[in-house]
Amino acid sequence: MVIEPRMRGFICLTSHPAGCEQNVINQIEYVKSKGQIDGPKKVLVIGASTGFGLASRITSAFGSNASTIGVFFEKAPQEKKTASPGWYNSAAFQDQAKKAGLYAKSINGDAFSEEVKNKTIDLIKADLGKIDLVIYSLASPVRTHPVTGVTHRSVLKPIGNTFTNKTVDFHTGIVSDITITPSNEEDIENTVAVMGGEDWEMWIDALLKADVLAENAMTVAYSYIGPGLTEAVYRKGTIGRAKDHLEATAFQISDKLKGIHGKAYVSVNKALVTQASSAIPVIPLYISLLYKTMKEKGIHEGCIEQIQRLFSERLYTSQNIPTDENGRIRIDDWEMREDVQQEVAALWLDATTETLPELGDLQGYKSDFLNLFGFGISGVDYAEDVNEVVEIEGLQ
Ligand code: NAD
Ligand code: NA
Repeated sequence: MVIEPRMRGFICLTSHPAGCEQNVINQIEYVKSKGQIDGPKKVLVIGASTGFGLASRITSAFGSNASTIGVFFEKAPQEKKTASPGWYNSAAFQDQAKKAGLYAKSINGDAFSEEVKNKTIDLIKADLGKIDLVIYSLASPVRTHPVTGVTHRSVLKPIGNTFTNKTVDFHTGIVSDITITPSNEEDIENTVAVMGGEDWEMWIDALLKADVLAENAMTVAYSYIGPGLTEAVYRKGTIGRAKDHLEATAFQISDKLKGIHGKAYVSVNKALVTQASSAIPVIPLYISLLYKTMKEKGIHEGCIEQIQRLFSERLYTSQNIPTDENGRIRIDDWEMREDVQQEVAALWLDATTETLPELGDLQGYKSDFLNLFGFGISGVDYAEDVNEVVEIEGLQ
């Protein structure tokens, strides 16, 4: 069928298989163009189908010839109903890996469950023996706790005070004030339960117990900090508490990995348009001003550029891995540069519905958002009939 974008609120209900495939191919080409990295050999990516996780899988496979197992939670296609983009991305990744002679298998299911953990471990044992890198890149609004059975829902709220600031509806370009009332204790607990470090630690516990982590294995989870502008709703809000928890968990996991001389890291990444970040108030306005500023300075990056740099300039060099005073890897260094932040803060004050098209990169935001779903990708003929029912090769 001919597939067009169908928007509802901040989500797109359709996705385009050929566009998603081209996205994956473009990322692979980028990684190859940067040359080989003496990196990981056998990699598990949890959250491997979109965003930073997909970029991590592509960088491992096509930057270091690594065998990869990807875990994700995506919607399969049905006759006349498209799959979620991560499904098509994974189908394309598997195709490309096969053509390149690289081992790749995927598991579609709830990573928070014991079932998916066990299934993953069985697959590692059967096919790879031991793995040397575990990337933890889940972004989810809900988690059903495997022990208590309670379903937790994360919220995006400030803590303590009502927060009022500007925001943009990136579809209409309308800039308005948004007021968010503060969270309660339960909101904080739920958000930490979903996006904190407990599940990451459960994964590593299970992998260690099954003895499928190689000597010197590393695990990396992704975090975000961002500027003062978004602090009340992000880093000092409910989601920030979850990130504090995730970052603290890295130290606990590192202790557990001492026996195999392994280590857990958190990498702080740049703000980018993904399905997860477009749902956070205030962030899209910040991102559109940030993109404008970083593009003008020639330092703009997407997920693949960020992760390629993370692997080649932080994780896999002959030097020690550089970290900040809190033990975190900083690949948000260009976003947080003083000149960048000063310019964004100045633009923020002047941003209105009328000025934003000029001051910000609203167009870039919109096209990145559409790109996530495989739309607006150059080289793809959107008038052409495509088959929406695409299989993922190597799906377990
Ligand atoms: P994303 O939405 O693009 O990717 C989320 C991934 O998690 C997908 O592969 C999805 O299938 C998978 N997933 C979700 N729920 C699952 C479940 N129950 N079981 C199995 N898989 C599941 O998100 P992203 O933006 O790439 O975020 C990944 C990480 O990076 C998050 O920790 C996020 O906070 C962090 N991060 C994001 C940004 C940003 O601006 N987007 C910046 C810095 C850090
Ligand atoms: Na991801």
